[in-house]
Amino acid sequence: MKTKLLSSARAGIKTAAKQLRAGKLVAFPTETVYGLGANAYMNNAVAHIFEAKNRPSFNPLIVHFGSVEDVKSQVFWNERSEMLARAFWPGALTIVLNKNQNCQLSQLISAGLNTIAVRVPDHNVAQNLIKEAACPIAAPSANLSGKTSPTNAEHVHASLNGKIPYIVNGGNCKIGVESTVVDLSGKTPVILRPGGVTREQLNKTIGPVSVFDEDAEILSPGMLKRHYAPNTHIRINATDFLSNENVIGFGPNAPISALNLSPTEDLIEAAANLFGIMHKLDKPGANPIAVMPIPEIGLGVAINDRLRRAAANG
Ligand code: TXA
Ligand code: MG
Repeated sequence: MKTKLLSSARAGIKTAAKQLRAGKLVAFPTETVYGLGANAYMNNAVAHIFEAKNRPSFNPLIVHFGSVEDVKSQVFWNERSEMLARAFWPGALTIVLNKNQNCQLSQLISAGLNTIAVRVPDHNVAQNLIKEAACPIAAPSANLSGKTSPTNAEHVHASLNGKIPYIVNGGNCKIGVESTVVDLSGKTPVILRPGGVTREQLNKTIGPVSVFDEDAEILSPGMLKRHYAPNTHIRINATDFLSNENVIGFGPNAPISALNLSPTEDLIEAAANLFGIMHKLDKPGANPIAVMPIPEIGLGVAINDRLRRAAANG
């Protein structure tokens, strides 16, 4: 695949928006860093993000919206989010909120969680692109996993050339560090990641905000739910199945009763289907789950990582 650089003028935005709508990846500038964008309604497009970044696990992604109204249509809005949005949006603040019943965003974006990270970026190219595409855009920073976030189109090109079809060139990012991520989905607000908006600024707007501490989470697990953990017992790498098991299949040899991640062994399709299928089978009182082997290559690494955690949990 050859990566094409698009201009941030009207023609470039039109092409980029059309490609996004069709499920293709487009890297684009925001005021913080460049994002690797996908149509947030399309599971398959979102799966391509993880593949292009070479992410070994499904970290949840931020969804970029054109307006506060559009955000409100997907999440449970509350008093604090209202205050933060008034003070900092559009801008370098990401808010984690619970999804509402009408939420149509891909389950892969939040890696199966019931929460979603949202932000309205303060960059006219990002805004024009979201409006022209007429869909929210899911986007992590546009770099290979584990590498520094890109602050211009050349950085994106150096990291992802050949792995993504389009980059919109919008020059240098004004802020240059990622957005602050604050979780408002629980009783008390917690900063999950420091960034463009400071803790002091948040304190002034909504009162005391604590900072997430990995060690504290280990001491009191469950305090913050960072990963979707099914309640139903899961067995992985299963090649034969018990009569009471629900089977998650992969490939053409899956039993017909199985929910198949991908009958054609397509790992992108499997990633796109993973959380939807897990949620379907993970109901109170449901039968145990057996998952057929998934090859440990490409997106299979992230899929297996998630399944191993789920199996350890159950
Ligand atoms: O400035 C930025 O935030 C850039 C631009 C492109 O918007 N994006 C970015 O995305 O840095 P990413 O994927 O590299 O970082 C997203 C962060 C991660 O730390 C992730 O764990 C957290 O947001 N996050 C996303 N959804 C979450 C959720 N539902 N619950 C908790 N944390 C979440
Ligand atoms: Mg990143």
